[in-house]
Amino acid sequence: MVNYIDAVDAPLKNTGAIRLYSADDFAGMRKAGLLTARCLDELAAIVKPGVTTSTIDRFVFEFGMDHGALPATLNYRGYKYSVCTSINHVVCHGMPDDKPLKEGDIVNIDVTYVLDGWHGDSSRMYPVGQIKRAAERLLEVTYECLMRGIEAVRPGARTGAIGQAIQTYAEAERCSVVRDFCGHGVGRLFHDTPNILHYGRADEGPELREGMIFTIEPMINLGKPHVKVLSDGWTAVTRDRSLSAQYEHAVGVTATGCEIFTLSPAGLDRPGLPPLKR
Ligand code: MF3
Ligand code: CO
Ligand code: CO
Repeated sequence: MVNYIDAVDAPLKNTGAIRLYSADDFAGMRKAGLLTARCLDELAAIVKPGVTTSTIDRFVFEFGMDHGALPATLNYRGYKYSVCTSINHVVCHGMPDDKPLKEGDIVNIDVTYVLDGWHGDSSRMYPVGQIKRAAERLLEVTYECLMRGIEAVRPGARTGAIGQAIQTYAEAERCSVVRDFCGHGVGRLFHDTPNILHYGRADEGPELREGMIFTIEPMINLGKPHVKVLSDGWTAVTRDRSLSAQYEHAVGVTATGCEIFTLSPAGLDRPGLPPLKR
């Protein structure tokens, strides 16, 4: 059984009940999401061949400090960085280091700022210089997966509708959906109920209600879906070393659909890809 609880009454830990947030809470998420989006916008000009992911990590930390926000990942379950930087066959949770990015790489940059207690969690893919057509196609497919998942969000639908929309599109494009990681409730907590699977069927999972806030963050592979975590305990890679991509937004369920809290104010939701006519 799923329970829903008014977010103001909920304890600040994951009790398994799904929080329902108020209009004021949505305003808090809008601010946190916008700050994260502005950081991701700035990174579009920073990511290029020769730049290290440590430099990106420092930028994300400083940008947060300058705007009164802390990166949620810093010291989260022992994670030591302000950002995740996942390159090529790294699926997620790549750790910044001193290795320069090189022409042709694709890198996911995943930022979560905590601003006034609200968690703005979002990620985008960044092409490094000129990338191969296969890589570009993976980015296009993955972004489209995210947006199709978001379009499935409305009160009365189940979380499975999001997964079904994503899986159907990804597999029709001969790509695969990673099963080992999922989207999550977000808001006062970084990772909360419910899990948002990026595969499955529309009649599965809890019913979406106005006031729910969660992320959608599909990880899509060019090869097989299987993942392994390296001995550092964090870095997840594709088992077949095929390329993997991910985009993430934080969204809130409204009366008629959803609000995206982490949209780029600069129209840079797909950095390095041609603008979409939607
Ligand atoms: N930002 C990631 C997410 O989308 C979580 C990163 S947790 C970390 O949920 F510890 F790896 F940073
Ligand atoms: Co997330
Ligand atoms: Co994230």
